[in-house]
Amino acid sequence: MTGSEAIQRHVPVLLEEVLEGLAIRQGGVYLDGTVGWGGHTLQILQRYESARVIGLDRDGAALAATSRRLADYGDRILLFQSDFRLLDEVLDEAGVGSVDGALMDLGVSSMQLEDADRGFSFSQDGPLDMRMNPDSGVAASEIVNTWTQKDLANLFFNYGEEKRSRAIASAIVREREAEPITTTLRLAELISSVPGMGRVRNIHPATRTFQALRIEVNDELDAVRQVIPVSVERLVSGGRLAMISFHSLEDRIIKRAFRELENPCRCPKEFPECRCGKVSAGRVVTKRPVVPTEREVMANPRSRSAKLRIFEKAQNPESSIAELRWTGNAERRTQNMSIILADLHLEPRNPKLELCLTMSVAAQTKARQSENITFRGGLKDFAFVLLVLVLLGCAIFITTWRRVAFIDMGYEIRKLEGTESELLHLQHEMEIERAMLSSPERIEKVARDRFGLREPEPGQVRVLP
Ligand SMILES: C[S@@+](CC[C@H](N)C(=O)[O-])C[C@H]1O[C@@H](n2cnc3c(N)ncnc32)[C@H](O)[C@@H]1O
Repeated sequence: MTGSEAIQRHVPVLLEEVLEGLAIRQGGVYLDGTVGWGGHTLQILQRYESARVIGLDRDGAALAATSRRLADYGDRILLFQSDFRLLDEVLDEAGVGSVDGALMDLGVSSMQLEDADRGFSFSQDGPLDMRMNPDSGVAASEIVNTWTQKDLANLFFNYGEEKRSRAIASAIVREREAEPITTTLRLAELISSVPGMGRVRNIHPATRTFQALRIEVNDELDAVRQVIPVSVERLVSGGRLAMISFHSLEDRIIKRAFRELENPCRCPKEFPECRCGKVSAGRVVTKRPVVPTEREVMANPRSRSAKLRIFEKAQNPESSIAELRWTGNAERRTQNMSIILADLHLEPRNPKLELCLTMSVAAQTKARQSENITFRGGLKDFAFVLLVLVLLGCAIFITTWRRVAFIDMGYEIRKLEGTESELLHLQHEMEIERAMLSSPERIEKVARDRFGLREPEPGQVRVLP
């Protein structure tokens, strides 16, 4: 089967469940953080004629193929080569404030798995690479050939849940002493040769070890941890996040993160009410993960371990539909497209591709409309700034007035203190005066000076009977 035949036959996992779970609507704007071959995105664009999608993928080769596949949808699709952890920056670049829904269909695509040169496959020979973006990060061969035996064993156990992790690590260390392990088949055969590593239920013995290496090479678990709160933050109120995982490690992270977003309160159970003040970000729509039907597993065996969980952002009565913007001006978006073209080393010779990667006239009109929205938003912003300035002025006036009043009061207090000390001084003098008035010498002096009295001569005193 050729690459283009494979892409045409590609069936996205849990398609109907995702579309229903995201509650896709006409005119909505959606983020596909793992656009891959564009399976889910194509269905959104086909079924909802006025919906738009921003598609991200780390893998430039996948994006190049997908941009051709989605060429008919012109400016309704914007593609960016980026890690989904950087979705904030990407949405800002695209001039998109918030989205109605976001999808992360985790892991690797069948295109990556089936391309021997990418090094994901244990059934075809290729370089032991496994990088989703071959231009960045460390290849699997570097881990296999440089890590200590103990670190390798821990990696296979923690990220692959591989029970024979120690035996596999020991076999790798022995083998690489002879010659570095640089190809997928050599590693797969080595793992198969470890005692006790037979096929279980037709699953290749190297499956878990390869999974562990892939997770480490692409830092997949950390990416899942980081992307959940960032995506919820960029949803409109009532918007939904759909996450599809393919192994229990990812599913556990998603389940816990959704639960914590729904109920972030960490107060002890004994508290009658919440004291920590943490507010719920929304609700978990899927109490149990949605899994594929038997029919889907039969048609697409790769879907057998898929689990879909959906989170809905809390309804916020203050946020309106205007929150949903497809803003940014036409030139800027055209520039973005050029950046992608440059990144992918693509020549838009195909007119359809050119249509996809540049702004159409309709898009420019839309952009102008959205600029109008921005202008109305500008008036709102101006009113808001004015209100803030008025409030600031009032605050400064009240503070100044209070300061002046305090200074006045200070002067009054000083004056009163002066009067008080004068009165105290006077009181002191009067007390001295009173004390002097009661002394015999003072009485004699006053009698003599004021009233002209003198002491009686001897004999002048007659004692009355
Ligand atoms: C399972 S496939 C998606 C398939 C897609 N939904 C479809 O139907 O065609 C996963 C894709 O996610 C990409 N991917 C994985 N981790 C990523 C990350 N952190 N950032 C961006 N893309 C990532 C992979 O390169 C791969 O193309």
